[in-house]
Amino acid sequence: MVFEDEMRARLQHVNAIIGDYMPKESGFQKTLLSAMNYSMDAGGKRMRPIMLECTYQMYGGKGALAAPFMAAMEMIHTSSLIHDDLPALDNDSMRRGRKTTHIVYGESMAILAGDALMNYAYETACRAFDTAREDQVMSVARALCILSEKSGIYGMLGGQSCDVECEGRALTEGMVEFINLHKTSALIEASLMIGAVLAGAPREDVGILKEVGNKVGLAFQIRDDILDLTGSEAELGKPIGSDVRNRKTTFVSLFGIPAGKARVEMLSGQALEQFDSLSARHEFLRLLLEELAVRRR
Ligand code: IPE
Ligand code: IPE
Ligand code: MG
Ligand code: MG
Ligand code: MG
Repeated sequence: MVFEDEMRARLQHVNAIIGDYMPKESGFQKTLLSAMNYSMDAGGKRMRPIMLECTYQMYGGKGALAAPFMAAMEMIHTSSLIHDDLPALDNDSMRRGRKTTHIVYGESMAILAGDALMNYAYETACRAFDTAREDQVMSVARALCILSEKSGIYGMLGGQSCDVECEGRALTEGMVEFINLHKTSALIEASLMIGAVLAGAPREDVGILKEVGNKVGLAFQIRDDILDLTGSEAELGKPIGSDVRNRKTTFVSLFGIPAGKARVEMLSGQALEQFDSLSARHEFLRLLLEELAVRRR
């Protein structure tokens, strides 16, 4: 199948899974549920759940075990975006081609929707226990450990906190890398690792996938920083110029766009080399990792 066709099919499949798990908008807390659905329904590339399912398949995973984790991963990512856009953080008013959650539902509901999605992600991931065979229970538990660690203070949230705390400050390359490794690489590492863990991949391979995610995540964030300067709101679905407006120090603000592109290419090449050293193959995932380095959105 051509890459674009397979991407479309995988995207549809992920959206169907997410649709199955999102809450029905009823009950006295209906506004909160509707704010959660608003941001999840807005689309997005669904890169993380797609990666998770790819590594699950790569190691022979079959059946529905990965589905709750795919939905959970996208919920955690979307929670991070709702909070990232808040006036107290990046103060952006467009996301995924729509007005941001706080513009539509107000700040208090957006804060709660971000919290609710984060918590509902774990409720959803735990549903994997319902379908796990006895010999899969430990894998589900390990996957939950990865999901929680990579989302928390030693993962995405840790990175986001440094990102906002360091606005307007001159940072070293090492500090910028710390931020990117946490705010962005962590969830990508988790996605690649969790699919493999659920399918019972060798531990060594899970370790290599962590390294792959680490580099892909760094490249992904530098590409995001480049697109914040050179992209278009129509294509990206989010405003450009956010980093300059918020006085963020990024790899690109330190070294410029050509050096940024070169770094993305280098990191992506290293990631692919490590990917090729794994004991299993996945042609589509390999193409996806290649494509991310030159993405326009
Ligand atoms: C945006 O992530 C936040 C970053 C980590 C740069 P994505 O570019 O994956 O956003 P969506 O999910 O496609 O909207
Ligand atoms: C955000 O980085 C990373 C997370 C949301 C965890 P950015 O602030 O650069 O993401 P965008 O550009 O708003 O999507
Ligand atoms: Mg941000
Ligand atoms: Mg932002
Ligand atoms: Mg950005």
